[in-house]
Amino acid sequence: MNQFTSVHDVQDISQLLKDALALKENPYAFKHLGENKTLGLVFLNPSLRTRLSTQKAALNLGMTVMVMNMDKEGWALETQDGVVMNGTTVEHIREAAAVMGQYCDILGLRSFPKLVNREEDYSEDFFNKFMKYCQVPVVSLESATRHPLQSLADLVTIKETWKDDRRPKVVLAWAPHIKALPQAVPNSFAEWMCKAQQDGMIDFTIAQPKGYELSEDFTPGAEITYSLDEALINADYIYVKNWSSYKEYGKVLTYPEGWMLNNDKLKVTNDAKVMHCLPVRRDLELSSEILDGPNSIVIHEAGNRLWAAQAVLKQMLEGLQ
Ligand code: CP
Repeated sequence: MNQFTSVHDVQDISQLLKDALALKENPYAFKHLGENKTLGLVFLNPSLRTRLSTQKAALNLGMTVMVMNMDKEGWALETQDGVVMNGTTVEHIREAAAVMGQYCDILGLRSFPKLVNREEDYSEDFFNKFMKYCQVPVVSLESATRHPLQSLADLVTIKETWKDDRRPKVVLAWAPHIKALPQAVPNSFAEWMCKAQQDGMIDFTIAQPKGYELSEDFTPGAEITYSLDEALINADYIYVKNWSSYKEYGKVLTYPEGWMLNNDKLKVTNDAKVMHCLPVRRDLELSSEILDGPNSIVIHEAGNRLWAAQAVLKQMLEGLQ
């Protein structure tokens, strides 16, 4: 694997899931793979889980890790070509990415969307330029449109916790928020779940208020409804997440009441397990009674971020041997 930016970069999802769960059983089995190899993690936005789990994953594989908080500690980057840099930007991405590639064998990059211009965000211009100029394998730590390490950890969590012979019903449920959040996590979750549905692993439904439809590019084959209560019937997993509008790009639209999940809403489910990528705003996006109750698996899910990252880095390191 020489890049990990979406589900499309994975040749064999089953093998990646098996690798992640095997690494969970035996975290140091491949410590030799990362000897004398350096991972650079470049953050243009805040992070808790992605930062710590990916560092830990690299250390488990014997790698050296360097972290760069580009937004706070780096030079202001220019990304446009052909501009005279007589404004606030100090260094062009052409040089900055190329230099980081000189120091690192693998790079990770987090870069959120601006949520102003849909075409610009969805072109992934910044991410693609970074990959082009750094010249080493790149793992996405969340881009403008996707968060594949999160989605892999989510699928690992479903595979690990589902013990029945039938296919589980997985529901992606929009939830309220006061801020405009990116579509990266739900896009990516939908993309991975649609692939898992195609592979016969799960049945996948998305519930959102009108105006919050995701881009159809990420939802092939998903059952889509505007009724949360309808979607929850017989659900086995509920993935709670807010996102801003794709159609009215980046906007927080009005929505009917009743979109925050609580214990009462769980009554029509198959005692569903509740997931969230975190961070979560309590009693706005998801009720405390669920987060603190027996149906929540959000901490277990966050724990699996480590094994997802380690499985991806392992396959990248194997490609470098
Ligand atoms: N879920 C997730 O990516 O968390 P962080 O933003 O804290 O890394």
